[in-house]
Amino acid sequence: MIKYSLKAEPEAAPAADVAIGEHIAPVPRISIQAFCESAETAAVIQIAGEDRRLAKAHLKMQMGGIAAAVEAYKNSPTPNVIMIESESRGDDLLTGLDQVAEVCDSGTRVVVIGRMNDVVLYRELVRRGVSDYLIAPVGPLDVMRAVSGLFAAPDAKPVGRTIAVVGAKGGVGASTIAHNIGWAIARDLWLDAVVADLDLPFGTAGLDYNQDPPQGIADAVHSPERIDSAFIDRLLSSCTEHLSLLAAPATLERVYDFGADAFDAIFDVLRSSVPCIVLDVTHLWTGWARRTLIAADDILLVAAPDLANLRNAKNIIDLLRASRPNDRRPHYCLNQVGVPKRPEIKPADFAKALESEPAAVIGFDPQLFGTAANNGQMIAEVSARHRTAEMFQHLAQLLTARSETKRAKGGLLTPLIEKLMGRKA
Ligand SMILES: Nc1ncnc2c1ncn2[C@@H]1O[C@H](COP(=O)(O)OP(=O)(O)OP(=O)(O)O)[C@@H](O)[C@H]1O
Ligand SMILES: [Mg+2]
Repeated sequence: MIKYSLKAEPEAAPAADVAIGEHIAPVPRISIQAFCESAETAAVIQIAGEDRRLAKAHLKMQMGGIAAAVEAYKNSPTPNVIMIESESRGDDLLTGLDQVAEVCDSGTRVVVIGRMNDVVLYRELVRRGVSDYLIAPVGPLDVMRAVSGLFAAPDAKPVGRTIAVVGAKGGVGASTIAHNIGWAIARDLWLDAVVADLDLPFGTAGLDYNQDPPQGIADAVHSPERIDSAFIDRLLSSCTEHLSLLAAPATLERVYDFGADAFDAIFDVLRSSVPCIVLDVTHLWTGWARRTLIAADDILLVAAPDLANLRNAKNIIDLLRASRPNDRRPHYCLNQVGVPKRPEIKPADFAKALESEPAAVIGFDPQLFGTAANNGQMIAEVSARHRTAEMFQHLAQLLTARSETKRAKGGLLTPLIEKLMGRKA
């Protein structure tokens, strides 16, 4: 590893120490990708990445600056944060960043490390939605301060979004779909995800991910006074590099009658530290289940193609739309479609009754789903190129708002505006 040394004069190099009273908050479980141009900056970012404050983040780094970033994201989703070093000046820098914006997913925050200290340039960067601009040479603390500031500022958006998956009836495959989507978000979108199994007595997430953790969501919901991010962290079991599970106990000694707000604190903590939280909401109509759906950032309703599912789906969607007038409408998908000899209601009839097209129509495939369930595997692990595996990828993109990937323009974020105003004032 290249050793970092402060080459410039102290006044040219931003503060190398944390100022007295300054607190650089540890960053959540975000993904960061850095594209450097100089070995010095690369070394500094590497050091920052090893700091305790970035311990939860996943940092990848490569050389090549703007050009490498554009190339990297042409066909793949962008992480939570992109750091780009550029030695270009003025218009060259802005043109390069415009190319990055074209391949950048909305929600991704861009931090630029440049050479110029120029207020006109700052303004143009703000206009393009760049979240922060650091002037090289930078130190590890500058990097940490910038990344931490994106998430710790009082007005920063919470890092995490909840996606609730619920069945229109019992047994329609909602949990299977939730688990596969969580897995796809972590593997294909490179976003850290937690799957929370809210079916406390009978949940199957542990089985599906081949995990048998001794602790999980019950420990949290039964100890509300202990809930904070360190406590929830200890209850998570790691399934893959980016995927963790908040498992259900799946035991029957206790009953699980909760108040309507019993899970609020757990979800708040998860939202503050994990980009994507998939809630496997069982088919129930309790106070907490309804509240979980209404409060979710996005909803996927899973229905099988029969009349009871259609009626329930309509009721659930109507209720959710009325309770969430300013939100995206809930998505729904049809599952277990095409059972031999079974009369079924057609996707077009669902679309008419529910006033929107299904986000996916997943075929009935007992061989594939049965193998996955019995082996504790995901569909893509049983059959990587299967159409159903691709549908889970598609649903993962849709539900993380990464579908219209390559069109995020302007307004990536605004913290730099405040910074700029502070400077001007
Ligand atoms: N498309 C499919 N083809 C065949 N089998 C499927 C399909 N989708 C799910 N299954 C199977 O259906 C069964 C029920 O699935 P799952 O437990 O995910 O449903 P659920 O809606 O979560 O049920 P519950 O109401 O108990 O929470 C599982 O055995 C699963 O493997
Ligand atoms: Mg279930």
